[in-house]
Amino acid sequence: MFSNRLIETIKSARKIAVLTGAGISAESGVPTFRGEEGLWKKFRPEELANFEAFMRNPELVWEWYNYRRKLISEVQPNPGHVALAEMEACVDSYWLITQNVDGLHRRAGNRHILELHGNIMRSRCITCGQKEETLDMFEKGELPRCTCGGIMRPDVVWFGEMLPSDILNQAFQAAEACDLFFSIGTSAVVHPAASLPITALNQGAFVIEINIEPTVISGKLHESIIGKSGEVLPQLLKDIWGIDIECR
Ligand code: OAD
Repeated sequence: MFSNRLIETIKSARKIAVLTGAGISAESGVPTFRGEEGLWKKFRPEELANFEAFMRNPELVWEWYNYRRKLISEVQPNPGHVALAEMEACVDSYWLITQNVDGLHRRAGNRHILELHGNIMRSRCITCGQKEETLDMFEKGELPRCTCGGIMRPDVVWFGEMLPSDILNQAFQAAEACDLFFSIGTSAVVHPAASLPITALNQGAFVIEINIEPTVISGKLHESIIGKSGEVLPQLLKDIWGIDIECR
């Protein structure tokens, strides 16, 4: 399935950085944003996922996030997540950079994770900034409150907001320092995350994409593997490191 060049390159890699997008969680049952099954066909997040919308109608925004929290709390990491967690133990340096807010990489066992867009299971006070990790579902009509009295919001990055700068800096450092970079299950259209594979490429890393279809960056990369991440990644792990996750 994989070329000798690909296998030899991955085998000799010592520092790996991985960028994931919604596609890695698609096989767990979490809808992607774009594409045929994309969330944006059903909802208009531009209208809900921004601070002004939240201040106008926090109950409605919480209702939408509670729906997604519930969905995510009921799904499991898939073989793609598990393979990426196993890969972490195979090299000296490994960073998992994700645009996803679903927390499935952590549940799969990855340790060095950079969540660029926050985490849907975490809330943050709009007044004092206090963060709280909770799986509790807030009842409709009852806004979650901080101990300081401020309203809690989902701790995710909304339209028009900056990404957390410390996490973003670490992600760019990982992309600059790695010798192998994977771009997995992302349409690579949302910046700054979409700049990471190109940064790695410009710094001399070998860059591999895994996606069910070509993306806007496919033509620039060393390898573009067309396939489901939940199938391609376990096969890579088996062929390169001899790890069979089905036997775990
Ligand atoms: P998208 O929904 O834009 O893209 C998902 C990608 O996954 C597409 O390129 C699909 O072809 C691919 N895909 C789907 N199923 C797959 C599978 N089983 N295996 C491999 N690939 C698969 O999601 P993102 O690129 O993550 O930001 O979107 C980036 C950001 O856009 C999100 O983080 C979100 C949104 O605005 C914020 O909310 C801040």
